[in-house]
Amino acid sequence: MHPDTSFNLSERVALVTGATGGIGGAIARKLIAQGARVALASRSAERLSAQVEALRAEGLAPLTTLAYDLDDPDAIAAALKGFANTYKRLDILVNAGGIMQDAPLGMISAEAIDRTLQVNVAATIHHMQYAARLMARHGSGSIINLTSIIGVVGGANQTLYAASKAAVIGATKSAARELAPKHIRVNAIAPGFIDTAMTAHYKDVVRTRVIAGIGMGRPGTPDEVANAALFLASDLSGYITGQVLGVDGGMQV
Ligand SMILES: NC(=O)c1ccc[n+]([C@@H]2O[C@H](COP(=O)([O-])OP(=O)(O)OC[C@H]3O[C@@H](n4cnc5c(N)ncnc54)[C@H](OP(=O)(O)O)[C@@H]3O)[C@@H](O)[C@H]2O)c1
Repeated sequence: MHPDTSFNLSERVALVTGATGGIGGAIARKLIAQGARVALASRSAERLSAQVEALRAEGLAPLTTLAYDLDDPDAIAAALKGFANTYKRLDILVNAGGIMQDAPLGMISAEAIDRTLQVNVAATIHHMQYAARLMARHGSGSIINLTSIIGVVGGANQTLYAASKAAVIGATKSAARELAPKHIRVNAIAPGFIDTAMTAHYKDVVRTRVIAGIGMGRPGTPDEVANAALFLASDLSGYITGQVLGVDGGMQV
């Protein structure tokens, strides 16, 4: 029997936003380990350098780093045009950059609304547009958007974040319909409660309450989310598009 090579991503070119974050970092690591040439994107050149050092220490070399602000459409356009000119192709796009600002209704500022919708929604759409053009040139590709269980079920004090993540689901399904004839797949991952910097500020009482709602009784790890991304990036998911894959330990069944 031949070994299954469907997970092999050799020579595939990938771009991962939020690559200095818990989930984006874990996804980048797994893609590189499977042979992909991965560009790491985030806002801070300093944090990107630290991430490259950490990967190199594990014997993993990224393709390049791109520092730009997801809150700035012009910066996104410049970065992605530069990427296209240099590398000419893109096989895998992972939109893992994102922010979460909890606030009760009545306390959500116009500035927070603008920033959250720009970073979580508009930046995802901009990236999908550039990616689709590049992927269409060679007639294949996989786009993976990070949404959240909160975008599906909502959360108290999370009206803004939930709206942004629900929008990501709508954008994912629409793009999947549009791009399927071009053999470009578009899926979303909806993590539950994952231990990263994004959730590190939760007070103990909140953390305990959230964990009580998880069937498996524990938070998830970035690696567990990255395993789902690896599946969606690879040929093993070749007939799967427009789906929202929950990675939440039974928070929602
Ligand atoms: N952790 C969870 O429990 C959880 C659950 C459901 C969904 N998610 C989603 O999963 C994704 C990754 O989250 P995470 O937990 O890995 O969070 P994280 O550790 O806080 O990482 C967030 C990443 O986004 C980048 N980022 C934030 N604002 C940016 C901006 N304006 N421009 C460029 N990059 C920016 C950060 O880069 P810098 O280094 O430049 O700040 C960082 O790399 C997010 O979309 C999040 O909503 C997370």
